[in-house]
Amino acid sequence: MPVLSKLVLAFSAANAAVASFPSVVHYPPLNSTGDDLTFAINGTGAPGIFNSSFTPDDIYSVTYNWCNMPHVRTKEYKVADSSYKLEYVELIHRHHKRTPYASNIFPNGAEDILWNCDGEGPATYGKNATGPGSVVLPIQWSAFTSPNNPFTTIQGFNGSNCQFPQISADGIADSWTHGFDLASVYKDKLGFLPAELDPNRMHYRVTNNVITSQVAGGLIKAMYPDLTGYQVLIQSSSFDSLEPAYSCPAANAVNSQYQGANSTWAQHLQLAAPVYDKLDAVSNIPRNDTGGWHVSFDHYYDNLSAKQCHGFPLPRNVNNTDICVDQDLANTVYRLGNWEYAYNFRLAQNSTLYSAGDYGAWILELKANLDGKVAGTNQDIYRHNIAHDGSVAPLMGALQVANGYWPGMGTEVVFELYSKSNSWFIRVLIGGQPMQTSTPMGTLDMVDYNTFHTYLESLVGTNGSELFAWCNGD
Ligand SMILES: *[C@@H]1O[C@H](CO)[C@@H](O)[C@H](O)[C@H]1NC(C)=O
Ligand SMILES: *[C@@H]1O[C@H](CO)[C@@H](O)[C@H](O)[C@H]1NC(C)=O
Ligand SMILES: *[C@@H]1O[C@H](CO)[C@@H](O)[C@H](O)[C@H]1NC(C)=O
Ligand SMILES: *[C@@H]1O[C@H](CO)[C@@H](O)[C@H](O)[C@H]1NC(C)=O
Ligand SMILES: *[C@@H]1O[C@H](CO)[C@@H](O)[C@H](O)[C@H]1NC(C)=O
Ligand SMILES: *[C@@H]1O[C@H](CO)[C@@H](O)[C@H](O)[C@H]1NC(C)=O
Ligand SMILES: *[C@@H]1O[C@H](CO)[C@@H](O)[C@H](O)[C@H]1NC(C)=O
Ligand SMILES: *[C@@H]1O[C@H](CO)[C@@H](O)[C@H](O)[C@H]1NC(C)=O
Ligand SMILES: *[C@@H]1O[C@H](CO)[C@@H](O)[C@H](O)[C@H]1NC(C)=O
Ligand SMILES: *[C@@H]1O[C@H](CO)[C@@H](O)[C@H](O)[C@H]1NC(C)=O
Ligand SMILES: *[C@@H]1O[C@H](CO)[C@@H](O)[C@H](O)[C@H]1NC(C)=O
Repeated sequence: MPVLSKLVLAFSAANAAVASFPSVVHYPPLNSTGDDLTFAINGTGAPGIFNSSFTPDDIYSVTYNWCNMPHVRTKEYKVADSSYKLEYVELIHRHHKRTPYASNIFPNGAEDILWNCDGEGPATYGKNATGPGSVVLPIQWSAFTSPNNPFTTIQGFNGSNCQFPQISADGIADSWTHGFDLASVYKDKLGFLPAELDPNRMHYRVTNNVITSQVAGGLIKAMYPDLTGYQVLIQSSSFDSLEPAYSCPAANAVNSQYQGANSTWAQHLQLAAPVYDKLDAVSNIPRNDTGGWHVSFDHYYDNLSAKQCHGFPLPRNVNNTDICVDQDLANTVYRLGNWEYAYNFRLAQNSTLYSAGDYGAWILELKANLDGKVAGTNQDIYRHNIAHDGSVAPLMGALQVANGYWPGMGTEVVFELYSKSNSWFIRVLIGGQPMQTSTPMGTLDMVDYNTFHTYLESLVGTNGSELFAWCNGD
C-alpha cells in the first residue's frame, strides 16, 4: 500500500534516535513543565489531587487525581460526528485505589496506622457450572497475625486484618462508579453495547494480581446489574501480556542502561538525598536497605499516597511523634514520583524502545483485534482490560503521550475504532479526552487507521516474531 510506505518514511525521517527494534523513533514530550527535575526537587505543591477520589466537575477533564483519575463519562464525552460509525471499543485501565503493597509499609514496627478491612476482604472461591458445586458460599479473606509466628513483624503488619494489597472498600466503590459511567456512555447514550452482556462479542480481562479481579466485581456489576456471576479472561502468569509478566530481557537491559551509572536517573537520586534524609528519619529505614526504598520513590510514594487517598494522616515516627512527614514533604515525593515515570517512559531517549518491548505483546494483541475488525474477521465489539500502572505507563510510553506522568488509580485509555464510507479511523481517549501525542499523528482523534496501524508496526513489527526475537537477544 503506497500510503503505508510513505508513512514508514515519515516516522523515521525525524529520526535522531532510531533504535533498531523494529523501527522505533523517539519523539520527546511536548510539555516539559512536569518533566523538569528542578520542579520535582525545588518546586512546591502537589502535582494534582492526592487526598480524595472526588474531582470537581468543572476541572474533571484537566485534573490529575492520583486517587481516582478521570475517565469516560456522559458529562464530558464528545459523541463523534454522525458520519462515523463506532465499530469496536477496546479499553484498558489501572485498578482503583487500594491498601499499600506489603513491601511499601514501613518495616520493623514503624507503621503508625492500623488498616481495618473487616467485612471488606477479597473474595476468592471455586465454583462448578452445575451440580452440588454450583451453589457455593462466596468466601472472603480476613488476614490475621499471630504472636506465635516469629516472622510476623518483618513486614510491619501490626495486627491489620487487611490482605496487602487489596482494593479498599472505597476503591470498590470507585470501580462501581467507573463501570456505571462507562455504561452511561457506551450502553445508554450511544446504544453501542447491548442491554444484556453478550459473552460472544464482549470480553473482560484481568491479570494474575487478584486486585484486578476485585475491581472487575464492582465494575462489571455496575455495567450489567442483572449478572450474578461472570467469567473473566486471564492469561498464565508466565506470559501474561496485560500485566505484563512475559520475559523480555532486552527491554530490561535498555531500561537499566538509562537508569544506570551517570544517567539523569542516578543524578535525581543524588539531588534527592535531603528528601530521603527527612523520610528516613520518620521510617527509620537505613539508606542501604535492600527493600527498594532508595532506588526510586515508588515505596514512599505508595506509602504516603495510599494513606492520604483514604483520609489517614501522614506518618509520624513511632518513637518521637515530633518527627513527621508534613504535607510539603509528601508533595515533594509526589512530584518526584511523577518525574520518575516521565523519565522512564517519555523523557529518556530509549524510553520508547523500552516501552515497545515491555508492552509489545499486548500491543500486538490490540493490533490484531483492530486489524481483525477492519478485515471483517473479528466479531467482537468490546474488550475491557483491567490492569496496573506497570501496564498503562509503557502503553503511554509506546504511544508517546505528549506529557509523561505516573498513571494514577483508574487511569483509562480507550481505543475507539470507527468506519466511515470505506475507511477506518481511530480515536484514543485518555482521562476521557483525545490523547495528545508528540508523534507526527498529533492528537489521536479520528486518525486514519492505516496511519495508526503503521505506527503500531513501527513499534512492535508485523507479527510476534520480531518482538520474541528481540526480547531474547536474537
Ligand atoms: C504542562 O505540564 C504542567 C505540569 O504537569 C501542567 O500544569 C500544564 O497544564 C501543562 N500544559 C499543557 C499545555 O499541557
Ligand atoms: C534546588 O535549589 C538549590 C538552592 O537554590 C540549588 O542549589 C539546586 O541546584 C536546585 N536543584 C535543582 C535540581 O535545580
Ligand atoms: C486535600 O488537599 C488540598 C490541597 O491539595 C487541600 O486544600 C484540602 O483541604 C485537602 N482536603 C482534605 C480533606 O484534607
Ligand atoms: C501497633 O499499632 C498500635 C495502634 O494501632 C500501636 O498502639 C502499637 O504500638 C503498634 N505496635 C507496633 C509494634 O508497632
Ligand atoms: C523505635 O525504637 C525502637 C527501640 O529503640 C527501635 O528498635 C525502632 O527501630 C525505633 N523505630 C523507629 C521508627 O524509629
Ligand atoms: C507508611 O509507612 C508508615 C511508617 O512506618 C507506616 O506507619 C504506614 O502504615 C505506612 N502506610 C502505608 C499506607 O503504607
Ligand atoms: C460440574 O459441572 C459439569 C458441567 O456442567 C458437570 O458435567 C459435572 O457433572 C459437574 N461435576 C460435579 C461433581 O458436580
Ligand atoms: C559520566 O559523564 C561524564 C560527563 O559526561 C564523563 O566525563 C564521565 O566519564 C562519565 N562517567 C562514567 C562512569 O560513565
Ligand atoms: C548497612 O549499613 C550498616 C552500617 O552503616 C551495616 O551495619 C549494615 O550491614 C548495612 N546493611 C546492608 C544490607 O548492607
Ligand atoms: C538505546 O538502546 C540501544 C539498544 O540497547 C542501544 O544500542 C543504544 O545505545 C541506546 N541509546 C541510547 C541513547 O542510550
Ligand atoms: C512474521 O513477520 C515476519 C516479518 O515480516 C515474516 O518474515 C514472518 O514470516 C512472519 N511470521 C509469521 C508466522 O507470519
